[in-house]
Amino acid sequence: MLTTLDIIDWFQEIPNDLAQTAVQALESGQVLFLPNLNFALKKEEQNFLSPQYADTRTKNISYDINHHRLRGLVCDDEEREYFENMMARFAKQSQILIRHLLNHYAPSLLSARTSFRPVEIAGRIAPSYRKDDTRLHVDAFPANPTQGKRILRLFTNVNPVSKPRVWRLGEPFEEVAKQFHPSLKRPVFGSAYLLQALKITKARRTLYDHYMLQLHDNMKADLDYQKTVAQQQVEFPAGSSWIVYTDQVSHAAMAGQFTFEQTFYLPPEGLLEPSKSPLGVLEGMLNKDLISLF
Ligand code: SIN
Ligand code: FE
Repeated sequence: MLTTLDIIDWFQEIPNDLAQTAVQALESGQVLFLPNLNFALKKEEQNFLSPQYADTRTKNISYDINHHRLRGLVCDDEEREYFENMMARFAKQSQILIRHLLNHYAPSLLSARTSFRPVEIAGRIAPSYRKDDTRLHVDAFPANPTQGKRILRLFTNVNPVSKPRVWRLGEPFEEVAKQFHPSLKRPVFGSAYLLQALKITKARRTLYDHYMLQLHDNMKADLDYQKTVAQQQVEFPAGSSWIVYTDQVSHAAMAGQFTFEQTFYLPPEGLLEPSKSPLGVLEGMLNKDLISLF
C-alpha cells in the first residue's frame, strides 16, 4: 500500500521515470511515502508546536495562500505574522515538490488549503460520527463539492518527540464502492440547487459529490465494516512525509500530533488513467455521467 521514494529535499530535480512511477502509484491507490522528507521549523517557530494555538472548535489551523487568510488560529498579532510565514513556507515548498514529482499534473493542478494539525488525535472526541476521522473513510466534504476534481494531499509529520502519525488503510476504492453501492440513495430532486442557494455548499453539488459524500458517511456509520474490513495499520514517523489521494484511499487517522498538510485539486482531465479514479469507478458502476448538474 506504500510506495517509498527516496526524496530528501523539497527542491530537488526528479528524474522522469521516477515522476512517472509516482503518478502511476498514486492513481493506483498507493500512498507515496517519503521517509526522509522533513519540514524544518525555524527557532522562533518551535514554540508553535502546542495545541494552545488552535481554536478548540476547529482543531486545525488552516491557511489560504491565495488570499493570505489564516483560520482557526488563536494568538497575538506578532505571532500571527510568524505563523503566516511558516504556513506560507510549507505551502510553497509543497507546491514546488509536487510540481516536480508529479510533473504530469503540473499544467492542471490547483493549490488549495494548507493546514497545521497541533491537536493529539488519540482520545479526541469528535462532535459527530461524520467528523470522526478515526473511522475509515474516503474524503468528501459537505460544504465543498469538488465537482469531479481529485483531492490530493501531502502530509509532513513534524512531531518534536518522535511520535509517529498512525493511520489505518482500508480496502481499494473499487471494493469500497462495491460494498456500499446497495446503500447509495439518489439525491432528493432540487436539493443541490437549494443547498447552494442557502449557501450550505460553496458550489453546486454534482451527482459525483452526492455519491462520494454518501460513501464517506456510510463507511463511517458502519461499525461492523470498520472492524471487519481488510485493513492495515501504518505509522508515519516524525520527520517523514506522505502523499495520497484521500478521495480514493480508505484511511483513518488514529494517533499523532503536529502535522502539516497541503491540499491540491486536480481536474479529472489531468489524470493519467481517469478510469481508475473514484469518478471513473462510480460512473462505471452506476452507468451514468456524474458531473453534469442535477
Ligand atoms: C484525515 O484526512 O482523515 C485526517 C488525516 C490526518 O490528520 O492525519
Ligand atoms: Fe480524511
